[in-house]
Amino acid sequence: MSGLAVATAGLVPSSDAGQDPFIKGLCIVTATRKAPTKPRVKAGDKNGVSGTGPVLNDFLTVFREEHREIRDTLLALYDALDKRRKKRAIDLHARLGELSGPHFRFEEEALYPSLVPIYGKVYIEHMFQEHDRAIVDALHIGTVLGVKRLSATEATRGMRLVRRILPHVSDCEGLGIMVELMTRDQIAIILSARDSAHKENLGLFEWARDARERSFHDTYQRDVQATMRQAAGVN
Ligand SMILES: [Fe+2]
Ligand SMILES: [Fe+2]
Repeated sequence: MSGLAVATAGLVPSSDAGQDPFIKGLCIVTATRKAPTKPRVKAGDKNGVSGTGPVLNDFLTVFREEHREIRDTLLALYDALDKRRKKRAIDLHARLGELSGPHFRFEEEALYPSLVPIYGKVYIEHMFQEHDRAIVDALHIGTVLGVKRLSATEATRGMRLVRRILPHVSDCEGLGIMVELMTRDQIAIILSARDSAHKENLGLFEWARDARERSFHDTYQRDVQATMRQAAGVN
C-alpha cells in the first residue's frame, strides 16, 4: 500500500455512503471528535517576563522556517500539477502531509489557544477552520492524484486546491508579531508542544484521523452547503 493510501485508509467512503460519499467518509472518521480544548496558556501575563530574547528568536526562526518549507512545497506541487508530472506531484503531496502534520498540531494544541486573549475566540476559530479546509483540500488533491492518468482538467482542479491552502501559510506567519507580546514561559510552552508534535511526527492525515481533537467535517459541510446555495442563486 502506498504512503498516500495508508494515510487516507480510514477516510475512504463506506459502501453505504449517502448522496455525497466523500462527506459520508468524513462522518465516519470525525463523528467522535470533541470540540477544541480550552487554551492551555494565556497571553498577556503581566507577572511574566517579556518574550523578547533568545526564546522568542528561537520560536520565530523555526516558525518562519516551517512556513517556508510548506510554502515551497505547495508552490512546487502547483508547478508539478501544471506540468502534469504526476509522480513528482505525488511525492510533493506526501511531503506536504509530513510537514503540515506536526506544524498544524502544535499550532492547534498550543499556539492558537494562547492567542485567544489577544484576538478573541472568533478569529482563532477562523484559524482552526482554515486548518479544517486545508486538510480537506489536501485530501482532495490526493484524490486528484489517485487517477490513472492525470488529465488537464484534474490537474487544474489540483492547482486550484493548492492555491486555496497557500494564503493560510502567510496568514499564519503573521501571528509571530503577536507572539512577541507573550512571556518567555508562554513561548517556551509553545516550543515544547512543537517538540512533542515533531517527536510523534504524525503526518497530516494520520493526525487528523487519529489524534486531532477537532472534527473538520462541520466546516466541510458548511462550505459545501454555502457553495450549493450560491450556485442556486440563494445568496
Ligand atoms: Fe502555521
Ligand atoms: Fe496554521
